[in-house]
Amino acid sequence: MFDLIVKNAALPDGRTGMDIACLHGKIAAVEAGITADTKESVDAGGYLVSPPFIDPHFHMDATLSLGTPRMNVSGTLLEGIALWGELKPVQTVDDIIERAMRYCDLALAKGIGAIRSHVDTCDDALKGVQALLEVRERVKDYIDLQLVAFPQDGVLRDPTALQNTIRALDLGVDVVGGIPHFERTMADGAESVRILCELAADRGLMVDMHCDESDDPHSRHIETLAYETQRLGLQGRVAGSHLTSMHSMDNYYVSKLIPLIAEAQVHAIPNPLINIMLQGRHDSYPKRRGQTRVRELRDAGILVGFGSDCVMDPWYSLGKADMLDVAFMGLHVGQLSSRADMAWCFDAVTETSASIMGLDGYGLSKGCDANFVLLQAQDTIEAIRLRAHRLKVFRKGVCVSRSDPLTYQITAAGRAARVDEAALG
Ligand code: FE2
Repeated sequence: MFDLIVKNAALPDGRTGMDIACLHGKIAAVEAGITADTKESVDAGGYLVSPPFIDPHFHMDATLSLGTPRMNVSGTLLEGIALWGELKPVQTVDDIIERAMRYCDLALAKGIGAIRSHVDTCDDALKGVQALLEVRERVKDYIDLQLVAFPQDGVLRDPTALQNTIRALDLGVDVVGGIPHFERTMADGAESVRILCELAADRGLMVDMHCDESDDPHSRHIETLAYETQRLGLQGRVAGSHLTSMHSMDNYYVSKLIPLIAEAQVHAIPNPLINIMLQGRHDSYPKRRGQTRVRELRDAGILVGFGSDCVMDPWYSLGKADMLDVAFMGLHVGQLSSRADMAWCFDAVTETSASIMGLDGYGLSKGCDANFVLLQAQDTIEAIRLRAHRLKVFRKGVCVSRSDPLTYQITAAGRAARVDEAALG
């Protein structure tokens, strides 16, 4: 007797007509035509069942703060950082918790099962850290929230940042972050990478640094990050987020750099919505795209996961917790338009990002946690094309969010019909 069987599902690997049986919160079988007894049965109707969306890069302490205390007029990363500096002293722990909880509701509805959120440690009161540790606990039954200690103002540039970052880790923040391109000099940036990687190595933690989020082709802290990763034996536990300067680097240098990143097993986390919005702001025309070299990194065997970074905050005034929006933008900016490339973009917001975050029990195989999303789409490419509606979200075999199918009732004379976008193809 199973607890739940989801019948007639399409799976991300292309199989169709599959049944997923769940017992005690785990996937017990994935086969066609399961006939065993079950307490609950759900008909997927041939639609796609995917493991949850994973957001490997987010800022939950800033989310939904748009307009507080003012808007970002220039649209640049640097004005965003300045604006965040104005908000930090006036917001309370309760403000951050309230916004983060609202965001997690939205994320759950959109099928996100895990989020890696950076949390600013350049605050002597550690308000963001206090708030997000509380939120991590409150949402743990439906979202895995992994926190990164992020010295936003520079671990060397800000006089108390290192001490506060260590305090945050002592309080239970999971991952070590950094922002070498925001330090005062290239030398300080490299030194910050060394200090923070040593901190992670000493504590057995993962590293995820904002790295080279710039159009400056000479911003090459990813080289130092790869070097320190190897020196300290951190292979497979380090990610470089953004890496936008790589877009503008000389091809000859990149031909050396990418193999070094691959050799160190450093992962890459571009954030397509934010990169296309914030980069290239100093350009006239032609205007650079500012997304890192996704295809080349992937082809070198490097894990590349797409993150969302921001939703309605000082850096980005749009967003709706939809990782399919993120995949859609990454696909376009990276010109990843072949069938294989588009399917790969779906992996970049699901299983690849789960691997980067080191999540256990992720996937749609027997023995994995019974966490999955039923989408109103026939396959992964259609899911990206439509940014498909999430019909049901399951966590440990229990439905935790549901919605009616999205259809349109056409009322034009002579054309009365009900239209389902997912049936167009
Ligand atoms: Fe970020």
